[in-house]
Amino acid sequence: MGFTDELSVVTGREEIAAAVSRLAAEISADYHDKHPLLLGVLKGSFIFLADLVRQLDFPLEVEFISLSSYGKGQQTSGKVKVGHRPQTAIKERHVLIVEDIVDSGITTSFLLDYLRRQSPASLKLCSLADKPSRRQVQINIDYLGFAVPDKFIVGYGLDYDEKFRNLPAMHALKGDK
Ligand code: IMP
Ligand code: MG
Repeated sequence: MGFTDELSVVTGREEIAAAVSRLAAEISADYHDKHPLLLGVLKGSFIFLADLVRQLDFPLEVEFISLSSYGKGQQTSGKVKVGHRPQTAIKERHVLIVEDIVDSGITTSFLLDYLRRQSPASLKLCSLADKPSRRQVQINIDYLGFAVPDKFIVGYGLDYDEKFRNLPAMHALKGDK
């Protein structure tokens, strides 16, 4: 059986590339003179962040944070833990969070509170994908790529049990309704 036999494409490479270019244009307009700190949420955002920053033609910094709320399956545990912390002070910086997907909103809501307590000059959220049907906490996504259906999505950085991050498009696990 092939590596992708159990998957169906949800968002193809061209559609992802178009969304990344649009987001880069929006972010450039707002941040070109702000020397922002782009904070990638590990691990899921690593491909999105890499594609995004290469379309930003102005000074910026990149940091990472790792948060975990998921166990090994597809359901959030509801508890968020900080693993790796940014190595640069957040205080008085223009911080743009770069997320892969907002699902229940629990992780993002925790992260927004966690960062706000460190007094950034501004704090906004960019997420490539949104699964609005599953939201438990209201979240405002300032820069959004696209919405995806209520399915478990893998590829373009997103995993299922650490697999499939390397797929260039976004796929749903087949049989996941
Ligand atoms: P939330 O706290 O439920 O909003 O989920 C936050 C994190 O769970 C996301 O940043 C992803 O890393 C992961 N996640 C949520 N939905 C999916 C999915 O469909 N596929 C892979 N990872 C997901
Ligand atoms: Mg994530």
